[in-house]
Amino acid sequence: MGSKSVTPANWLEVNRTNWDARVPVHAKSKVYDIPAFVAGADTLRDYEPDEVGDVRGKTLLHLQCHLGLDTLSWARRGATVTGLDFSQPALDVAVSVAARIGVESARFVLADVYDAVTVLAGKTFDLVYVSIGSLQFLPDIGRWAQVVAALVVPGGFCYLTEPHPLVKLIDDAGTTLTLSGGYFTQDAIMLDEGTYGDPEAELEATASVEWLHHTAEVVSALGAAGMCVEFLHEHDWIWYPIFPGLTRRNDGRWRFPEGQPSIPLLYSLRAAKHR
Ligand SMILES: C[S@@+](CC[C@H](N)C(=O)[O-])C[C@H]1O[C@@H](n2cnc3c(N)ncnc32)[C@H](O)[C@@H]1O
Repeated sequence: MGSKSVTPANWLEVNRTNWDARVPVHAKSKVYDIPAFVAGADTLRDYEPDEVGDVRGKTLLHLQCHLGLDTLSWARRGATVTGLDFSQPALDVAVSVAARIGVESARFVLADVYDAVTVLAGKTFDLVYVSIGSLQFLPDIGRWAQVVAALVVPGGFCYLTEPHPLVKLIDDAGTTLTLSGGYFTQDAIMLDEGTYGDPEAELEATASVEWLHHTAEVVSALGAAGMCVEFLHEHDWIWYPIFPGLTRRNDGRWRFPEGQPSIPLLYSLRAAKHR
């Protein structure tokens, strides 16, 4: 974990600059593998379609959509998708990928998440979708939940899946499980590092500001915003070797080896907005 601090006034600009710098690296990376996606590969994790259900004919808003691959994976399943992100270079890639795969109905909108309701001019969606690596860039989860609740149509729902916040506390330098930092911290975490998209790549901007939002904070924020949490699943596996100490089981999922303490590595939740 990086150094802790009060939230810097320029956090949004720092993070936008960082994400703009990551985009050209990610667009060429094996992690995002755009040629494979264009050729038909799916980027959703295998549990997501099961937990979300049938999206055919539904409107879906993907907050923090990045290069739009997850967004467009839902479009391929029949949803009418809108992606929102604060990085114009990311949206440029998303628009070009949508054109390459012939999803003409996809719309991509430039905005800070906290401005989404205004920028989308009161439009609401059957499903608001948020995935992997999103909440950590937002300082205020109560405000985020209010935004989500305002964007879901009555009768619709929000689906969120993220690495478990405990994962952020694990010292990933070795194979022994050690923890550092505080699960309940509200401090901003200042980072200066490369990108998971290509750890070898030189980024033009490496600073970012993140926050750790524990699961109770997220659930309570959605409840306070009027959403009804239908499930919160904590999984003892993740779909890639996030630490050297994990082992791949027959089901293709990565877990701590037998005999080691088992902790959640991933979570997913669904919250409904009642009519
Ligand atoms: C790790 S990526 C999310 C990956 C995503 N799950 C996907 O489908 O590839 C995080 C994204 O959040 C965006 N982002 C970070 N802070 C944001 C904010 N305040 N408003 C809008 N987008 C933001 C970044 O530009 C980046 O595209």
